Amino acid sequence: MLNATGLRYERDGQQILDGIDVQVEAGQSLAVMGPSGSGKTSLLAILSGLSEPDTGEVWIEGTRLTGFAGPRLGVSVVLQGYGLVSLLTAAENIEVALRAAGHPAREVGIAARRALDLVGLEVHADQLVEELSGGQQQRTAVARALALRPRLLIADEPTAELDAVARGLTLARMFEVPEGGGGLILATHDPEVAERCDRMLDLSHEIAPVG
Ligand SMILES: Nc1ncnc2c1ncn2[C@@H]1O[C@H](COP(=O)(O)OP(=O)(O)OP(=O)(O)O)[C@@H](O)[C@H]1O
Ligand SMILES: [Mg+2]
Repeated sequence: MLNATGLRYERDGQQILDGIDVQVEAGQSLAVMGPSGSGKTSLLAILSGLSEPDTGEVWIEGTRLTGFAGPRLGVSVVLQGYGLVSLLTAAENIEVALRAAGHPAREVGIAARRALDLVGLEVHADQLVEELSGGQQQRTAVARALALRPRLLIADEPTAELDAVARGLTLARMFEVPEGGGGLILATHDPEVAERCDRMLDLSHEIAPVG
């Protein structure tokens, strides 16, 4: 599903990733852990095709990532800052993503509502994102990622703002991706979430100045 080797990433004279390898088989989930600042978001951005590593390769389903201009088809990403458009409704945010991915206009409204329903947000579908709570925004971002029916879901601390019930529901939905034969990569500080994953990658290390 995903195979990355020798990832190095340096910014502002700091070695953020120092030769990291990542492997996720079809049907598997991987937890990426490590303290704040250890490079989880940087790594996920590279695996998502959003930032380019200084060295190393990322292969997804047999194709090497080049260009690093954004996620490729079949890969959904939940960003740590959610990446929602605040002046659109929850449903509209999902509709826009589906349209951009080539879904027919007549189908996106229903698909967006179904995705919000999956994470328990159907009653908030028509609320502006800026009027949603932090946790509701987080679930909207997960719903948008799931609506695209990804083969690979990459999510950066996707349950950090959720209460136990919403967290359980949202996690169950995300784990349906590997259960269906896809892949799941989750950055998390939560040991319980990490324990549910098949594998764990710990980025704990001292970030060293380069040189
Ligand atoms: N584009 C960049 N320019 C400069 N420094 C960066 C850049 N991206 C990341 N960093 C630095 O790299 C380090 C790792 O950041 P990153 O966001 O990957 O950590 P994280 O593990 O996701 O932390 P958190 O748990 O707080 O989300 C930090 O010190 C950060 O300041
Ligand atoms: Mg982060």
